[in-house]
Amino acid sequence: MAGFAIMGVSKVFAGSGGTAAVETLRDIELTIEDGEFLCILGPSGCGKSTLLEILAGLQTASRGEVTFDGKPLRGTGKERGVVFQDPSLYPWRTVAQNVELGLEIRGASRAERRTEALRYLELVGLRGFEHKYPHQLSGGMRQRAGIARALANRPEVLLMDEPFGAVDHLTRLQLQDDLLTIWSGERKTVVFVTHDVSEAVYLGDRVVLLSPRPGRINRVFPVRHKRPRKRDDVELLHIQHEIYAAIHEVKTQQDLEFTI
Ligand SMILES: Nc1ncnc2c1ncn2[C@@H]1O[C@H](COP(=O)(O)OP(=O)(O)OP(=O)(O)O)[C@@H](O)[C@H]1O
Ligand SMILES: [Mg+2]
Repeated sequence: MAGFAIMGVSKVFAGSGGTAAVETLRDIELTIEDGEFLCILGPSGCGKSTLLEILAGLQTASRGEVTFDGKPLRGTGKERGVVFQDPSLYPWRTVAQNVELGLEIRGASRAERRTEALRYLELVGLRGFEHKYPHQLSGGMRQRAGIARALANRPEVLLMDEPFGAVDHLTRLQLQDDLLTIWSGERKTVVFVTHDVSEAVYLGDRVVLLSPRPGRINRVFPVRHKRPRKRDDVELLHIQHEIYAAIHEVKTQQDLEFTI
C-alpha cells in the first residue's frame, strides 16, 4: 500500500549569514492514496519541490509528520523513485548504462541489468537509443531516459518534479500520454508537481492547489473523469476555469506566474 499521510507538515529553512529564516510550507494536511495520480500545482516558490523532497526523504519536516505505507517516513528509499526537472543523466554513461544505475547499486547481474534497462527503455519509447550518450538525445528523450531510470528501480511511487518543464509543447503532450500509459500499466502512485493548470487537470485524479509561500493547501480539486480523457472535454475545461478562479483569488497576495 504505497500511500502517504501528510499530517500538519510545516517547513522552515533556517537563515544563513544573517538572512531571515524562510517559512516554505505551513500546516500541510493531505492523504495520498495508493495508486493515485496526484498533481500539485502552485506558483513559483510556494514549496512544491520542498514538499516533494520531504516525500522523497531528501528533506525533513520542521513540524508535523509524514507516514508512508502506514509507517513514519525516514529518509530515502528505493520504493520511492524521483524524477527531477533536469534528469541529470551521467554524460559519460550511455542511455542504457544510466538506466542500469540503480540495478548496479543493487548488485544485479550484467545480463539482468541489460534486460531490465531495455524493458524500461522500450516502455518509454527509447528502444534503439540505448547505446547513445545523453548529449546525443533531444531534451524530451533525456526526460524519457530519466523516467526509465526511475522506473528501473521498480519504485512503488514516482515523485515527479516538473518533469516536462523543459520540453516543447508537443513533446510535453506526448510525454503526458506516455506517462499515463505507464501509470495505468504499472499502477504506481504518482505525485506530480507542475505549475501548468491544463497539465494538472489532464493527468491528475486530484489537483492540489497550493497558495503562495508559505505554501498552504488552498483547495483540492477532484478530477473524476475516466481515462482516456480528451484535452478539450468541456468538464475538464470547467475544472481548469475553477482553478484559474481560485488562483485569481489569491493573486493579490503575490504576483503569480502560471502557464496555460
Ligand atoms: N535548501 C534550502 N535552503 C533554504 N531555502 C530553501 C531551500 N530550498 C528551498 N528554499 C526556499 O523555499 C522556498 C520554496 O522553494 P521550492 O523550491 O520548494 O519552491 P517551488 O514551489 O518548487 O518553486 P518553483 O516552482 O520555482 O520550482 C523558496 O523561497 C526557496 O528559496
Ligand atoms: Mg520547484
